Amino acid sequence: MRLSDCHNIHDFRQLAKRRLPWPVFDYIDGAADDELTKGRNTAAFDEVDLVPDVLAGVERIDTGCTIMGRRSELPLMLSPTALQRAFHRDGERAVARAASKFGVWFGISSLATHSIEDIAALTDAPKLFQLYVHKDKRLNASMIERCKAAGFDALALTVDTIVSGKRERCLRSGFTTPPRFSASSLWSYATRPRWTLDYVFGPKFRLPNLDGHVSEGSGKAVSIQDYFNTMLDTGMDWDTAARIRQDWGGTFALKGIMSVADARRAVEIGADAIWISNHGGRQLDGSRAPFDQLEEIVDAVGGEIEIILDGGVRRGTHVLKSLAMGATAASGGRLYLYALAAAGQEGVERALQILKEEIERAMRLMGVISVQQLSRERVRLR
Ligand code: FNR
Ligand code: LAC
Repeated sequence: MRLSDCHNIHDFRQLAKRRLPWPVFDYIDGAADDELTKGRNTAAFDEVDLVPDVLAGVERIDTGCTIMGRRSELPLMLSPTALQRAFHRDGERAVARAASKFGVWFGISSLATHSIEDIAALTDAPKLFQLYVHKDKRLNASMIERCKAAGFDALALTVDTIVSGKRERCLRSGFTTPPRFSASSLWSYATRPRWTLDYVFGPKFRLPNLDGHVSEGSGKAVSIQDYFNTMLDTGMDWDTAARIRQDWGGTFALKGIMSVADARRAVEIGADAIWISNHGGRQLDGSRAPFDQLEEIVDAVGGEIEIILDGGVRRGTHVLKSLAMGATAASGGRLYLYALAAAGQEGVERALQILKEEIERAMRLMGVISVQQLSRERVRLR
C-alpha cells in the first residue's frame, strides 16, 4: 500500500498502521474505556441526511468562510494534537506547512514537539495555541506570553481533561512520552525500521513549550495518563478560564464544551468560540457525540459565539452536515494524524486535497455555491 492508494481517511489509517510501531499507532487511534464515544462521534453523522437541490448553476463555488476573524479557504480546521514528532520526524512543521498551503487553521498543543516560536516563524496561516492549565502557574503564564510575542491568532483552552480518560490500549502497550522500547513492543519497533531510525538518530525528542519548567514528557518518560493526573490543575474552574481569557487578551476559545449550560457560561465570560468536543472519545467514554449535541447548543447560543464541531469528521459530507446544523466550521485530529504518520507533509496535503474535493463535490451535488447556503432546511433527521 502506497500514498497514492489512499483515497479516504480510512485508507490513511491503514497506511499509518503499517508504518508505525503499534504502541504509537494505538496512542493515535485509541480512545477511552470501550471506545463507544469514539465510534459514536462518526456514526452520529449518519442520523442526518442531506437534501439536495438541483439545477442551481454551480460552476463557480466558494468553500471559504471566516473563522475567529480570519479567512479560511475551507470550513475545516486541524485540531491541536500532542507529540507529533512521535508520528513523523517532521511533526508539527509538516502539519503547519500543509495547513498553510490549503489556507486553513491549525493548532499546536501545549505538548507539541516544536516550539511556539518555531511554528510562528514558519507560516502566517491562521494558527492557535492549545493551552493545558498546569499546576505550575509560571509555566501557564510563560506559554501565554510566548504566544503573544509570537503573534498566535487565538488561544484555545482545553477544558475536558481535568483528569485523564482511561485509555486501555495505552495501558496495555505502556506508551510513554518520549516513546520507550519495551519487551512486548520491541518486535514492532524492529519491524518499522524507517520510524525507528528516524526516532533513534533524529534530534532529541522534546516538548519545547514546557522548557525550563517541566521535564516530564521530554527528559523524563511518562504516560499521558500520568502526565494529566500529576501535572495539570484539577482545581481549574470558570474563574480560571475567565482569568486566562483576560491574561491572553486576544481571540479566545474553549475546547471541550458539551452542554448548553457550559456554552452559555462561555458566552458570559466573553469567549469568541467554543469547540463542541469530547476530545475524540479519549476522555469520558459514554459521552454524547459532538454532532448529537450540536443542534441544542446552536439553538441556545448560535449567533452569540462561534461554534466549532470537533470530532468524528472523516468525510466532506460530515463537514456539510455540521454547517447545515449551524456550526461555524468543523475540525478534526485523526483526519490529518493518520496522514501525517503515513507520509508526513505530503500525506497531510493529500488528506486535505481529498477532503477539499469531497467538500466541493458535495456542495455542487447539494446545489449550493457558498457555505452560508447550508441551513437546517437542507438536512432531515432519519
Ligand atoms: C488529541 N487531542 C488533543 N486535544 C487537545 O486539546 N490537546 C492535545 O494535546 C491533544 N492531543 C491529541 C492527541 C491525539 C493523538 C489525538 C487523536 C487527539 C484531541 C483533538 O484536538 C481533537 O479534539 C480530537 O482529535 C477530535 O476527534 P477526531 O477528529 O480525532 O475524531
Ligand atoms: C491526548 C492529549 C495529549 O488526547 O490531549 O492524548
